[in-house]
Amino acid sequence: MDFPFDINALFPERISVLDQNLATGRKSSGRPDPQAQIATVIDELGKASAKAQKLPAPITSAAKLQSNRHHFYLLKEGESNGGRGVAVGFLKVGYKKLFLLDQRGAHVETEPLCVLDFYITENLQRHGYGLELFSYMLQHKRVEPEQMAYDRPSPKFLSFLGKHFELKNSVPQVNNFVVFDGFFRNKSAGQ
Ligand code: ACO
Repeated sequence: MDFPFDINALFPERISVLDQNLATGRKSSGRPDPQAQIATVIDELGKASAKAQKLPAPITSAAKLQSNRHHFYLLKEGESNGGRGVAVGFLKVGYKKLFLLDQRGAHVETEPLCVLDFYITENLQRHGYGLELFSYMLQHKRVEPEQMAYDRPSPKFLSFLGKHFELKNSVPQVNNFVVFDGFFRNKSAGQ
């Protein structure tokens, strides 16, 4: 996804981690406040993700990011668009308090890290970018895929998890979250 401004100036790293402050952790001295452009990138990616998942409205926007304690990982491809760079996609994660059912159907109260939104631009899907972004997040958060919960995963994302991480057997839930075998390992009710 390209923009009429320099993605490389906004996001110096190949993968940037943004939080509530919409900050990449770097300041570009002498430039106008880049927050508005950063917000545009987040909003456009959020809209495209919602469209791809056929959601009625975006679940990711700059405003939503500012009002939640989520982490937004943005992957860019710096060489494209005449050297100004393109946004390849994003992954949004956050902790959620959830009541889940374990394999025996017992209620377990947990607060796992959840994948809340994940999107790679259409023309770049199935090129390994999603795996690059997801693997970066796993290292950054020091978490294993089986320890995470997945909010309403799409068929493409389920296929992705099965292919790259052998996550195939989910434990039935009564909410929109999906967890896999291994999630309840080392967990007992009440933990
Ligand atoms: N159809 C089926 N499976 C797909 C597709 C597709 N069109 N695209 C990717 N996958 C899965 C497959 O397992 C694929 O392996 P294969 O090509 O051998 O079948 C694997 O992902 C490829 O891995 P990557 O190239 O690393 O994945 P990609 O860069 O495409 O990113 C993602 C995966 C994020 C799911 C991407 O396809 C996408 O943006 N899809 C549309 C939006 C979406 O569904 N997002 C998930 C929302 S659910 C949530 O966020 C909780």
